[in-house]
Amino acid sequence: MKRREFLKTTAAAGGLAVASGTVSAYSAETPAADSEIHPSLRNQPPLPYSFDALAPFLSEEQMRFHYEKHHAGYFKNLAGLVAGTSEAVKELEEIIRTSSGGLFNNAAQAWNHSFFWNCMSPDGGGKPPETLLRAITAAFGSFENFTEKLTEAAVKWFGSGWVWLATDKTGKLEILALPNAGTPVSLEKGPVLTVDVWEHAYYIDYRNERAKYVRAFMDKINWKFAGMCYEARNSVRWPVK
Ligand SMILES: [Fe+2]
Repeated sequence: MKRREFLKTTAAAGGLAVASGTVSAYSAETPAADSEIHPSLRNQPPLPYSFDALAPFLSEEQMRFHYEKHHAGYFKNLAGLVAGTSEAVKELEEIIRTSSGGLFNNAAQAWNHSFFWNCMSPDGGGKPPETLLRAITAAFGSFENFTEKLTEAAVKWFGSGWVWLATDKTGKLEILALPNAGTPVSLEKGPVLTVDVWEHAYYIDYRNERAKYVRAFMDKINWKFAGMCYEARNSVRWPVK
């Protein structure tokens, strides 16, 4: 499976469903009025677990606001921005790579959140699969040093943004702290893991205490998903043409 297909599928369906190869990435029902708009630009992938599945780390109220208001809002904005333009037939990843301003912001936020939901799991935490663990150890010295650096980057990032574990063009892992809608997709880097550090991601449950949210996130990381993303990087270089 090509990396882009892999990411679209996993973003929509979660790692376990992907392994079966039976899930279509953007299979939600298509409103007739939006039929001219590419499905990837208008169909918000389903959450890979129930709204209360991550509690008490993230409450049902927090998850519903984040998914149903913020994430859904980016898709709604995106569909509105591309309607009636030549952009409407493009795939989401292509829009991200070729746009700027409001179009980029909404497209990247739509993609980033779809990826982010899969980075967490009710059964998360622990350590990465062996191949990814070896790569993390090679890049950061130890798994403990990596988690410390990721936590520090997420806690100290000023303002809204995303902190990523990603591969560079040589395949080496790096931590990227990117502002606003920043995403490896537009940087020709391979996303492996991300944490949303926008206040809307945690403010209902944690108020201003981002550090508590980030530390709790570390215990809910879906390392199986991250490991699959890293393996996909191993087989196909980003971006896939
Ligand atoms: Fe968010």
